[in-house]
Amino acid sequence: MTTRILTGITTSGTPHLGNYAGAIRPAIVASRQSGADSFYFLADYHALIKCDDPLRIQRSRLEIAATWLAAGLDVNRVTFYRQSDIPEIPELTWLLTCVAAKGLLNRAHAYKASVDKNVEAGEDPDAGITMGLYSYPVLMAADILMFNAHKVPVGRDQIQHVEMARDIGQRFNHLFGKGKEFFVMPEALIEESVATLPGLDGRKMSKSYDNTIPLFSSPKDMKEAISRIVTDSRAPGEAKDPDNSHLFTLYQAFATPEQGAEFRSELLQGLGWGEAKQRLFQLLEGELSEARERYHGFMERPADLEDILLAGAEKARSVATPFLGELREAVGLRSFRSVVQSADSGKKKAVKGARFVSFREDDGSFRFRLLAADGEQLLLSRNFADGKTAGAVSKQLQQGGELDLRSEDDRFSVWLEGACVADSPLFSDSVARDAAIENLKTALTPQ
Ligand code: TRP
Repeated sequence: MTTRILTGITTSGTPHLGNYAGAIRPAIVASRQSGADSFYFLADYHALIKCDDPLRIQRSRLEIAATWLAAGLDVNRVTFYRQSDIPEIPELTWLLTCVAAKGLLNRAHAYKASVDKNVEAGEDPDAGITMGLYSYPVLMAADILMFNAHKVPVGRDQIQHVEMARDIGQRFNHLFGKGKEFFVMPEALIEESVATLPGLDGRKMSKSYDNTIPLFSSPKDMKEAISRIVTDSRAPGEAKDPDNSHLFTLYQAFATPEQGAEFRSELLQGLGWGEAKQRLFQLLEGELSEARERYHGFMERPADLEDILLAGAEKARSVATPFLGELREAVGLRSFRSVVQSADSGKKKAVKGARFVSFREDDGSFRFRLLAADGEQLLLSRNFADGKTAGAVSKQLQQGGELDLRSEDDRFSVWLEGACVADSPLFSDSVARDAAIENLKTALTPQ
């Protein structure tokens, strides 16, 4: 079974070395594992919550997209997209907002921290707090539940949000699932082995501490930042203590075990800090210079990045659109047509609101689609040489009876007298496929 891994990157800054070692690099490694189906996206709606500077949002989206691609993300293996290119996400956010308990959101750490700060300052508790900040966890739940992610790699500060996604998803399942679990329960994945990278001053590398090392800006900037790494005052020739040196920790995060061991012994033997910084610079240059070239290549071709992300959005929507259709159906946002048609069951072609739509291909062959009441495609027929055969096949399907359905991977096909006559769309997984088989059977049961 494939594990669906999903994570979002808030687009409000420029990636630094800490983001690379702590999130980007491990995510790319994870995406290459067999059995992983990865969804990585730019959380640009989330960025709007934190940032009201359009230029910065625009720039950060571009830089982060270019960084991931330059770092080796293979968009043929993963689904890489911008949150804001998926209209199903805000739509699902609303469906979830209507089941999320306000009391749950009152407990969100980020919101509570803002309230506490206001209270401490003697202000109104909600001063400066937007509905965006308050609803942040619901939007994040929609990101996760939309694609039924099993694993969500995040930093510790985000664990609560993943728990809230479970809570909200469960409530939706309970209210509307009628025994069916629409949403998979996601789990936060905290990579213990990925140490948080220390910054120049030894605290966690973070933009808010202004202690970062830039990732892809220029060798000069990187060198300049490295020169500001805080060390102790031991002179060249004096033995250094690698285990209490964040310069060493930084080195190790990018070195092979052998390189790390060698650097350690050199420090113990009294390598000067100036020299040690030079070594770190060379190591990072070796690791990152090619990716930096690729990064600048992408930054110079934003139209290509646009194409890549739009293709990713299309891939993501091929999952999101039919799934949201099901959810809308579940809460009662249904086509009026299905009501009319099922009331008029004697009418030809009306099968519990599902309908056959035939069409002609450019090559002259005849085909038909079977659409559910909500317009979702249940089947697409094979090509038939003439309209009569196509008509006979769809008629035979409407007559009900035992269907010869054959599942293969995440799709299935319909067979009549030993010949394949129609195919289902590709589903996200076997669970979605089996649900669609049930829908099809219901749709084709004569009333
Ligand atoms: N809130 C996350 C962060 O700031 C980013 C994010 C948004 C996210 N949606 C997500 C992470 C969904 C994982 C899954 O780090």
